[in-house]
Amino acid sequence: MDNLATAATRVLLVDDDESVRDVISVLLREEGYECVVATSAEMALDLAAAEETPLVISDMKMPGRDGLWLLETFRQKYPDTAVIMLTGYGDTEAAVDCLRRGAVDYLLKPPRLTDLIRAIERALAKRRIELARQRYQRKLERKVRDRTHELRVALHDIASTYQNTLLALVAALDAREHETSDHSQRVVRYTSAIAGVMGISGSELEEIGRGALLHDIGKIGVPDAVLLKPGKLDSSEWLEMRKHPEVGHQMIQNIPFLDTPAQIVLSHQERFDGNGYPRRLRGEEIHIGARIFSVADTLDAMTSDRPYRMGTSFKNAIAEIQRCSKTQFDPEVVKAFMSIGEEGLMRIKAEMKMFKPKTVDELDAEAQAAEDALEHAMSPLSKQEDGELPLVPKGNGRRADA
Ligand SMILES: [Fe+2]
Repeated sequence: MDNLATAATRVLLVDDDESVRDVISVLLREEGYECVVATSAEMALDLAAAEETPLVISDMKMPGRDGLWLLETFRQKYPDTAVIMLTGYGDTEAAVDCLRRGAVDYLLKPPRLTDLIRAIERALAKRRIELARQRYQRKLERKVRDRTHELRVALHDIASTYQNTLLALVAALDAREHETSDHSQRVVRYTSAIAGVMGISGSELEEIGRGALLHDIGKIGVPDAVLLKPGKLDSSEWLEMRKHPEVGHQMIQNIPFLDTPAQIVLSHQERFDGNGYPRRLRGEEIHIGARIFSVADTLDAMTSDRPYRMGTSFKNAIAEIQRCSKTQFDPEVVKAFMSIGEEGLMRIKAEMKMFKPKTVDELDAEAQAAEDALEHAMSPLSKQEDGELPLVPKGNGRRADA
């Protein structure tokens, strides 16, 4: 049974002494091993290159390259091959050296049959365990890679869910103020563009963008009577209104990933000259994200239409922002803002319009149009002159009862 189990195992025997080769190879074949012999280290390497060799038994002292060289070459080229060294009496030091260099065992010449077989079995068993360990290691590494990938995907999903939640919250706030729903997102785009010119990138840029998006989140705490008042606010109403940076900061300050945005929310009404609120910070005491935001917010406020007035031109807004450099705004931020130029800023606004998500009304109209078109095509009384389906219905496409 033992013979059957080891019948296919190839053992490469390397020795320059013909009598040793003959004796050992006969013994190994009788034990059921496939024994190939080499008369030198160089020849042994040629044989190993031709076919996979699980086990090598090599003499230490040979003319030309010696056993130690062969051992080291095998460790480098065929690390899965087990090597047993044959040493003469009085060569114990060399034998220990062999073990240190990666031989699995050594035997004194001439080896006894039982010692030889036992050493071979031990070496092969050790090799099997080592190969199994490597397979297990590879499997484990693959598993870790797969799990890491899954985790990355999950984290990405969580991040985009967070982002979408914030967008929904801001859209709700904008709607309450009867503000066009893309105001906040436009301010984010202007803020990011200026920050980009100032060399801000990566996660810092994202955090500043998030701060710009959430800047007025504290207005949730401002009563409708104040927030939606059509006329001018009196002093007590102003007092109420001016609480919104602190209210916003309190709302999000304990959310770890909104740490920087919370700073920007708290400082977004400060002015560079120290005449802002709520803390009357000045210059670089104000978070850089807030200093950039205030330029972006002013640009958008001036260039957007309001129910009670039309927006001014980009040219006018840019001139006004430049005029307020060093007083309301950080001159460094204004410099970066100016370098984007009128055309660049208008392009950002135009791009926003292109990627603007459809409103519920628009989606409703599209659905109604498709329904009408289908109904029209199915009708036997269709009197369509050009025979094509109407892609856009006449009127706004909404139901009469909508
Ligand atoms: Fe504000």
